Amino acid sequence: MSYDTVIKGGTVFTPDDSFVGDLAICGETIAAVEMNGNLQGAEEIDAVGKYVFPGFIDPHVHIHLPFMGTNAIDDHASATQAALAGGTTTVIEMICPGPDDEPQAAFDEWKQLATAGACCDFSFHLAVVRFDALAKQQIRELVANAGVQSFKVFLAYKGALDISDENLFSLMTLARELGVTITAHCENAEAVDAMQKKLLAEGKTGPECHEPSRPRCVEADGVNHLCGFAELTGATVYIVHTSCQLAVARAIEARLRGVDVTVEAVVPHLILDKTYAERPDFEGAKFVMSPPLRDAEEHDALWSGLAGGTISTIGTDHAPFNFRGQKEMGSEAFTQIPNGIPSIQERVDLVHTHGVVPGKIDLRTFVDTCSTGAAKAFKMFPRKGALAVGSDADVVLYDPAFVGTFTHKDALSKVDYCGFEGMPRRGRAELVFLRGQLAARAGVFVGQEAAGQYISR
Ligand code: URP
Ligand code: ZN
Ligand code: ZN
Repeated sequence: MSYDTVIKGGTVFTPDDSFVGDLAICGETIAAVEMNGNLQGAEEIDAVGKYVFPGFIDPHVHIHLPFMGTNAIDDHASATQAALAGGTTTVIEMICPGPDDEPQAAFDEWKQLATAGACCDFSFHLAVVRFDALAKQQIRELVANAGVQSFKVFLAYKGALDISDENLFSLMTLARELGVTITAHCENAEAVDAMQKKLLAEGKTGPECHEPSRPRCVEADGVNHLCGFAELTGATVYIVHTSCQLAVARAIEARLRGVDVTVEAVVPHLILDKTYAERPDFEGAKFVMSPPLRDAEEHDALWSGLAGGTISTIGTDHAPFNFRGQKEMGSEAFTQIPNGIPSIQERVDLVHTHGVVPGKIDLRTFVDTCSTGAAKAFKMFPRKGALAVGSDADVVLYDPAFVGTFTHKDALSKVDYCGFEGMPRRGRAELVFLRGQLAARAGVFVGQEAAGQYISR
């Protein structure tokens, strides 16, 4: 039998194994995976010395994001082309409506924008900001009819995106009934608000004050709070962008009590530290995100959590705001700096460079945390996150020997800076296939405009 495309002689990572072999694609699907294979195809690609990975999944991105008085700068075309260039073939975007918006209308708006522009596959977590009888009804309908399987709550951003405890309890009770996951940004919104006011009153206005306004105990408190509600209601929870050991510990304690809790790390917390936000001349604003960048000692705690399995996924929390004109909105007060450090294109190579190359995580953990884990947590497995017969042919041919530098010059996102500028880079997605079609080659988008499909879950 001859297949459309055969990737030959690479180290192939299936869900349970890795071996030198061949992978064959027919149409949009993986048609064969064979150890020491001799598969034949109309097109044959030499993969000797390279890795063959399932398309990477970013479980936490913001693309269309009205936030802190401005809008994130990417659109679905730019963000997903950047994703593909870096080896990511599926993104899960946070739909973040305002407090007066109906969930159904928000879902329709985001889906319409993504369908018109996205070049990689996409799904959504829907943030619950408004929660009245109508919202509750629409949430039921979105789960039943639109394939939405995960929601988002913000225990942060007081007065903008946060949710009352009364509504949180009610939402989590509903989530348990519907069998859907609540993803959560965990901090104590009241404590952050009080600390921000205190620091500003003391004349502490620069980006370096962002971390002291929301220290580790504030994040750990948010995790504990969420997990307590999960324990009471039986809801499944997923804690996004966990930045420190103290917060991970609260989640693990809850897990030991029987709470179904999954922990996510994001790339900025694994690689950058709070001294970046202390850079002079307001440059630190580029590195303001929430939870904030921490002490460098936290990096090893997070890598160990990934290696040991207490942390299951690595996302980006891509939230692109330009330095000029957007981050600068906070030049008088750090509380006005739009939060976010973009990395949708760099994620996979950053994790390879800083995690795999120095031996902090092995290749299996790399694949699990950057692809398979998210597919499993968010009900896309084995369609996504797996090199298996019948799975979508989302395939990355990865060159681990590539040596380069992270630089804004290579970036396809519209944002005007790269938070990892000048850092050494080891590894590159040489070829990226989205459902069988070549979508990126050596960091350049070569796919089809708006070819991304909505993944109903
Ligand atoms: O700083 C961040 N994380 N910005 C995006 C919004 C969020 O909290 O996820
Ligand atoms: Zn967040
Ligand atoms: Zn986020």
